[in-house]
Amino acid sequence: MKVFGILAGRKMGNCEILAKEAFMAAVENGAEVEMANLHDVKIIPCNGCETCTMRVTQGKSPDCVHKGKDDMDLIMDKFLKADGILVAVPTFVLQPPGIYKTFIDRWLPYEIAFLLEAGIIETPPKRVAALITAGGSTQSWMSLTLAALQMSMFMQSIKVVDQMMASRVARPGQVLLKPDSIARARKIGENLVKAMKMPYDQVQWMGDRGWCPVCHSNVMIQGQPQWDGKRYDIECGMCGAGGSLVNEDGNSRFVLADDGLEKCRVFSEGRQNHFYEIQQTHREAFENMETIRALSEKYRAYAVPAIRGEGK
Ligand SMILES: Cc1cc2nc3c(=O)[nH]c(=O)nc-3n(C[C@H](O)[C@H](O)[C@H](O)COP(=O)(O)O)c2cc1C
Repeated sequence: MKVFGILAGRKMGNCEILAKEAFMAAVENGAEVEMANLHDVKIIPCNGCETCTMRVTQGKSPDCVHKGKDDMDLIMDKFLKADGILVAVPTFVLQPPGIYKTFIDRWLPYEIAFLLEAGIIETPPKRVAALITAGGSTQSWMSLTLAALQMSMFMQSIKVVDQMMASRVARPGQVLLKPDSIARARKIGENLVKAMKMPYDQVQWMGDRGWCPVCHSNVMIQGQPQWDGKRYDIECGMCGAGGSLVNEDGNSRFVLADDGLEKCRVFSEGRQNHFYEIQQTHREAFENMETIRALSEKYRAYAVPAIRGEGK
């Protein structure tokens, strides 16, 4: 029973301390733990070539063009074999830091829903996760971090069971002055192991309740027509569940539509729908290559003075 931690904060910073508190609880409850700080590994940024998505939508193995050139295999080998994932990263400008985004942008070749749909794997792995972020401010300045971390976990069909935000901790170790945050991190470790020990179909959310009844995010967006015409009044900006906001006794509540889970990214089925969207979008491009080429000429001929860094 293994927990693998992904960290991206300072050495002995607030995230490392919270993660270690959670690791200690996990070990006391029977788990083995291992971690990687993303600052200690080399990850080449995704260049957006779409080789992986084009290959997988054609039923081929979605290998990345950067495969073998950095530490991605080293870290993903641990990540894919773990039963539980603990993410502990700081909030930078309301979101996870760029280094975490660089890491998860390389996950398209591991998108479980796509691998299933293309017949490359037959059964999804059964993994659970818990999420931690620390920030110098309150939720108001940390509003997108946990939602973004959740999004990354769902890309790999990992069930998120708990999450926490340690607020008003700016300097390294400042979280040690907040016993509630330390206790919450301990609970995160306990809940993670509890979920790892449960039959997978019984694993449920153990954290605080949020607006979305599916993923508990508080990030809501106004719905717009999607690729197949489907439109919801309001969508959960994180998991894509659709519904509307209702006001009851002066309190707003997000209520799921009857078909509100059709596009929900928490479930493989919701993301498989996106697989077909990508396939259709690619098809439109391939069928119109000549037009794209002809219309591109104007832009190819238009040179803009551009800066190039050393080594590029
Ligand atoms: C570039 C940068 C941006 C930051 N943006 C935010 C922010 O938007 N909201 C917030 O609450 N804290 C913000 N912080 C503060 C860090 O989240 C805080 O110092 C945190 O404790 C760092 O975690 P660590 O100790 O694990 O490294 C920012 C810090 C840096 C360096």
